[in-house]
Amino acid sequence: MSHVESLVAKQLESLLENEKNVVSNLANASALIFQNYENINWAGFYVYNNDSNQLDLGPFQGNVACMHINPGSGVVGKSFAEKTSMIVPNVHEFAGHIACDANSNSELVVPIFKNGDIFGIIDMDSPLLDRFSDFERKEVEELALVLSKSI
Ligand code: SME
Repeated sequence: MSHVESLVAKQLESLLENEKNVVSNLANASALIFQNYENINWAGFYVYNNDSNQLDLGPFQGNVACMHINPGSGVVGKSFAEKTSMIVPNVHEFAGHIACDANSNSELVVPIFKNGDIFGIIDMDSPLLDRFSDFERKEVEELALVLSKSI
């Protein structure tokens, strides 16, 4: 029985039902996120690579992006290192922000966990300042929960 509440999380659950390919699942999840949230210019995944101890670029929608991010670096790396979601209302005021797209002004990052370990990060960028609400953070955390069953 599903315990997710939001419509977008329910959509993701039905999209991924019985689907096992991790790349396909993340690819479609990035498209679903991109289609469901207004005023975003990037949505996708950074996946932890245990061999290199880096986060590698995963499936995404938007402009080309940084291929590797070190734990602790930028918004994504900090979310990974601290294992916590973060809303950054103005990326230009975030020390160490990695600017993949000069048009991005705010960002939301949410970790995905798998069997107690951190798998990677959902990253969403917006050209608007202060784009992401706490309500949306909770929604995207639900998406991470749904994804943890399909990765
Ligand atoms: N801005 C991110 C890097 C990833 S791009 O936004 C796609 C950061 O500071 O970690």
